[in-house]
This record gives sequence, C-alpha cells and structure tokens, in this order.
Amino acid sequence: MTADAQTPDPGKLRELIAGELAAARARTSGLTDCVDDDDLVRQHSPLMSPLVWDLAHIANQEELWLLRNVGGREPIHPEIDPLYDAFEHPRSERPSLPLLPPAEARRYASEVRGRVLDLLDGAPLAGSRLVTGGFAFGMIAQHEQQHDETMLITHQLRRGDRALSAAPPGPPPADALGLPTEVLVPGGPFTMGTSDEPWALDNERPAHRVDVAPFFLDTVPVTSAAYAQFIADGGYDEQRWWTPAGWEHRQQAGLAAPRFWSREGGQWVRTRFGVTEPVPPAEPVLHVCWYEADAYARWAGRRLPTEAEWEKAARFDPVTGLTRRYPWGDAPPGPQHANLGQRHLQPAPAGSYPAGAAPSGARQLIGDVWEWTASDFLPYPGFSAWPYREYSEVFFGGEYKVLRGGSFAVSPVACRGTFRNWDYPVRRQIFAGFRTARDAAAELRYGWEAGR
Ligand SMILES: [Fe+2]
Repeated sequence: MTADAQTPDPGKLRELIAGELAAARARTSGLTDCVDDDDLVRQHSPLMSPLVWDLAHIANQEELWLLRNVGGREPIHPEIDPLYDAFEHPRSERPSLPLLPPAEARRYASEVRGRVLDLLDGAPLAGSRLVTGGFAFGMIAQHEQQHDETMLITHQLRRGDRALSAAPPGPPPADALGLPTEVLVPGGPFTMGTSDEPWALDNERPAHRVDVAPFFLDTVPVTSAAYAQFIADGGYDEQRWWTPAGWEHRQQAGLAAPRFWSREGGQWVRTRFGVTEPVPPAEPVLHVCWYEADAYARWAGRRLPTEAEWEKAARFDPVTGLTRRYPWGDAPPGPQHANLGQRHLQPAPAGSYPAGAAPSGARQLIGDVWEWTASDFLPYPGFSAWPYREYSEVFFGGEYKVLRGGSFAVSPVACRGTFRNWDYPVRRQIFAGFRTARDAAAELRYGWEAGR
C-alpha cells in the first residue's frame, strides 16, 4: 500500500483508505470517460471484457465485499450479481449479456461508492479479520486498480484513434549506459513473502525462510534493442532455444516478434495506444509471452530467474540480513523510485530510477514492466485461502507462470515487493517483459580457490 496501514490511528487509516479509493476511481474514470458509449459497450478483443463490464464489475465487487460483507447491508440490485461474476461468464461471453448500459453502470458505481464512504466513517477497523487494518477496503482499492490495468490492456487492443495520453518518462540518468550488465545476489537464506503487510493478499503469505544459491541477475530488464538482436539472430527459427511446448506454440501461433511490433522500411515499429512509432531501443521489451522470454534467455546463455531469486534480489539487504518491503527500503513508492500508476503510459528507458535500486544494484525491479519468472504459481508453505478460495487457490498449479514487480500500468497500492501476479505462458497482451539470470556458485567457488 502507498502509506502505512499499520498505523494505529483509525482516523489516519480512514483517510488513507478514502484516498486510495478516490485514486482508483480517478483512474477508472480516466479510462472510461475518454471514449464514447459505443466504444464502452464494444468488445475490442475476445481476450477482454467490454469496458462497461469492468466498470460495473468494479462496483459490484465493492458492494459485495464492503456494503454487504462488512456493512451487513441488503443488495442494491441482486439480479445483476451473476452478470458480473467473473467465474460465471468468461470474457468472450460478456458482450452478449444484458449488461448495465454506460450511464447506469456509472450511476451504480457512484451510488455504491457514496454508501461505502458513509460506511467507512463509522466502520470499526479492528475486530474481525476482514476489517483489521482496513483489509477489505484495501482489497477493494487494489481490485479496482487491477481492473484499471486490465482496462488499459483493452485500450492497447482497441483499434481507432488515440484516446489516452500522458507525459513520457524522463531520459535515463547519465550512468545508465555504464551500468554493469549484471549484479551478484549473494547465496543463503532470506525471508520471502509476508505475514505483517496489512493489505497483502493470501498468496503473498505467510513469511517463510528460503535458501537461494548465489546468482547473477541482469541489472535492468531486457531492452527492445537486445530483443531485436535475438530476432535478427534467427531466435524464432531455432528450435534449440525453445522448450517443446514453447516451440509448438511458436509454430502454431506464428510468433516472429513481440506483439504489436511490425516491420516497416527496414526497421521495427510498434503500435501503442493507437500510435505507431519506431521501437525505442532503450526501452524494456514488452508484450512477449513466457515462451519467448524463456527462449531469449537460452539464446543469451542464461535463464529466467526463479520467483524466489527475483524476490531476494528485490528485497534482501545483505548488510542487515533483513528483508525490505521494496528494493529501496520500507518507504512507500514515490515517483523517484519507480514508474507506476499509469503516470506515464510506457516503460522508462533501461537504467532509470537509480533511487529505486535494490541493494544488489538492480534497477527497475518495481514498475515499468511485469517480469516473467521461471516459476509456476504455487502456494507458499503454510498458505491458507483468504478471504475466498477463488482469489488465488483455484489458480495454483503448473498452468500459470509467476510475474513480479508490476508495470507502469500498476498502482502503488497493488504493487509490493511481495506481490505475485500469474498468467498463462502464452499471454502477450499484458504489460510484461523480463530479465535474465545465471548461477554464480561455480564461479564464486573458482574465484575463492583462485584467490587462496
Ligand atoms: Fe475482478
């Protein structure tokens, strides 16, 4: 969360919650007011819901968790619940449902929000687990921001004129080009996950010790320029770089470059939010699936980091032996630390945000692009589903790969050093890139012997 929910002062906590809910709603409005009603009800891709579905679903979840579960209120429109149950209707089906039209969806969302703010004024923020530390309110602010990211993906898939704009990130710092290509993360145990972050979701819990062998990690995410070298070197044509499932998918789907890239006049161009332009070489590569990230890593003689490696690189401080909330420390993310919150509608150049660097020296672990890891989405030891099985538990297993760190599209409230995202290894429309790693144990042993 962006401020400290561990604050014992209920007045401050209420203020914090109201601020996070308002920030989420401002994003939601920005993403839905910039297009007309026809655009809101249309399905821009079978992978996504119509924007108007997200809008009413956000309100419906807020009503369900806050007004009904926390406040004990009667349903406002019980008949619409099944329409907005994500488990009842897959995205491809949603445009054919009798959804609330845009004006009604907006009215419903603002009615729910008004009642939630009344509830927040008097609700106890201690006692039951659902309200302690404002958890349910924090969960709903995160849920809305997660849908704001989903809606931004819909905007990316939408055809037509540009509807969104934002200031670009600044140029990279002077030292960006001279950074070492990789950083060493020392071996040994560290504390992964959390038991005390008040708004952490069930899959981030509990805190547990994990032993990680020493490894090298890319200092920055893989750039578009580096990825273009993989393409130019025939990376997509050489089966040896791909896992069997990855190669099969590459063949079937005809993968030849990141999604939204095309070749124009001898150079790569990329379409983003309705604008086509040359691919910026220094920008972290985006819109590659797990199979592509994994193939690139093999081509580079490296591998994807495991989830535990990623989190150790992002949170472990070898000086104190403690695990931080964020790479830079325990302070909430500020604009100097990371590219988050759709402040810029693109990743910043590789090497940006030195103030957000981890103790290892790695940069941009938080924000810019989600980073694919080698790991399947699995429960931590001691996991228990909370507050409902469908949040995480039903997704555990080998079908999904874990992504870490958040993207430029993610709000600070839904981005922590412990935050876990997951998706299918074929997924490309999400704001995902990656960085690579390699084992360090053998080299360190050799170095140690050589140094004796
Ligand atoms: Fe949802």
